[in-house]
Amino acid sequence: MNQRIQRVRGMQDVLPGEVWKWRYVEQGLMHITAAFGYQEIRTPVLELAELFIRSVGETTDIVGKEMYVFEDRGGDILSLRPEMTASIVRAVIENHLLQQQPIARLWYYGPMFRRERPQKGRYRQFHQYGAEVVGSPHPESDVEIISMAWQLLQHFGLSQLELRINTLGNSETQQRYRAALVAYLEPHKDQLSPESQARLVTNPLRILDSKNEQDRAIVEQAPKIVDFLDDESRAFFDTVLSLLDRLSIPYVVDPYLVRGLDYYRHTAFEIVSTALGAQNAVCGGGRYDGLAALLGGKPFPAVGFALGVERLLLVLEAEDRFPAKPPVAQVYIAAVGEAPMREVALMLASRLRAEHIPTTVDLLRRSVKGQLREANRYGVRLVVIVGEQEWQQGMVIVKDMASGEQKLVAEATLVQEVVRRLRQETNES
Ligand code: HAM
Repeated sequence: MNQRIQRVRGMQDVLPGEVWKWRYVEQGLMHITAAFGYQEIRTPVLELAELFIRSVGETTDIVGKEMYVFEDRGGDILSLRPEMTASIVRAVIENHLLQQQPIARLWYYGPMFRRERPQKGRYRQFHQYGAEVVGSPHPESDVEIISMAWQLLQHFGLSQLELRINTLGNSETQQRYRAALVAYLEPHKDQLSPESQARLVTNPLRILDSKNEQDRAIVEQAPKIVDFLDDESRAFFDTVLSLLDRLSIPYVVDPYLVRGLDYYRHTAFEIVSTALGAQNAVCGGGRYDGLAALLGGKPFPAVGFALGVERLLLVLEAEDRFPAKPPVAQVYIAAVGEAPMREVALMLASRLRAEHIPTTVDLLRRSVKGQLREANRYGVRLVVIVGEQEWQQGMVIVKDMASGEQKLVAEATLVQEVVRRLRQETNES
C-alpha cells in the first residue's frame, strides 16, 4: 500500500465541524470593521523575499529563521508572506494610493506563514486580521487603531484581556537607547542566555523581551527607553496615553515591550489574554513611519495592528464565548420507502431551497429511522416526512423536532407552513 501523505507540520485543516467558529469570528470582525469605515485590501501571498528582509529586518527571527523562501523557476527569490504590513506599504507605494487621497484606512484578512516551532497557539500557517492607517503622523491615528483592536475583542465579550503599550521613540531615540543598552549589557554578557548573547550583536532590543529568567533579572536593571525619549517622542506618547484615558481603554505601560519586527517607531502595543498559556498575544501593532522610505518610496507615516485569528479562537474557547453551533440545515425531508417518494423528497427540497430555506435530504437510501437520526444529528428544526399514503391525498407530515409534535400539511401549502413555523420558532427563541 502507498504511504499515507500527511499535512505539512504546523499547518491545520479546519474541518466542517469547526468552520462555523471561523465564520462566527469573521462576521464579528467585519461588523466592527464596518463601524470604523475601513476599506479592504488584498495582496498576493507571495512577495519578493527582499520586501520582508528590508522591512521586518534581517536580524529578526522572522526573517532570519522563519520565512518560507525559495527560488522560483525564473530565478526570483520569493517568500510566502510572514506578515502583511510590508506588503501593504509596498502596495500603497506601487499603486500610488496616497496620491489619490491623503489618508487610507485599510483592513485585510488572510493566511501568513512562519516556520516557527509549532505549539498551541503557534502555527506555521496562521491567519491574521489586520488594519492599517496610512498617511497620518498624528497620535489620534494610533489611538484609533488601538481602540479598533480593543473593540474587536470587546465585541466577542472577552474579559481576560490586557493592553500593553510602550513607546520606542523616534529613530534618534532608538539609536541612543540601543547604544546605552549595549553598554549596560556588555559587562553581563557571560550571564546572558546564548540566544541573548547572539542578539547583543544583532538585535539588542529584543533581549528586553527575553523569557529566560536569568536574562530577565539582568534586564530589570537595564536602562529604560522612557528615560531616553526626546521631547517630541515623549509628547507623542503622552498624547496617546491621555487619549486612551479619554476613551476609557485600560492599559499597562510595559517598558520592555519591543515586539519582534524592526520597523516600529513611537507606539508599540500588544493585547494579551490571561486566559491563554505561553502564546498569549492575541494582537500586536504599532507605528512604522520609516518603512515606506526603506522600501524605496516617498516616506509616509503609518500605524496598524494584526490580530491572530487562531489565537482569538483559542481565547473564545477558553472564555467559553462561542454561541450555540448553528444547525447544518433547518429542514430535513425524509422519504418513506422506495423511489417514488424519494423523487418527491427531492422535488420538495428543491421547492424549499428556492425560498432560501436551508434544506437537506437523504442520499444514502436509508430507512425512515435512519433518516430521522441524521436529521437529529444535523440539528434541523423540522422534518417533512413523505409517505405514500399521505402523498396520494396530497399531504405530507411535518414533524417539529423540538416538541416531537406531528401534523398533516397539504403539499400546496407546505412552503408557507414551513416558513411560518421557522419564523415562529425564531421569534420564540
Ligand atoms: P506580529 O506580532 O508578528 O505582528 O503578529 C500579530 C499577531 O499574529 C500576533 O499577536 C499573534 O496573535 C499572531 N501570530 C503571529 N505569529 C503566529 C503564529 N506563528 N501562529 C499563530 N499566530 C501567530 C505583525 O505581524 C505586524 N504585521 C502587526 C502590525 C500591523 N504592525 C503594524 N501593523
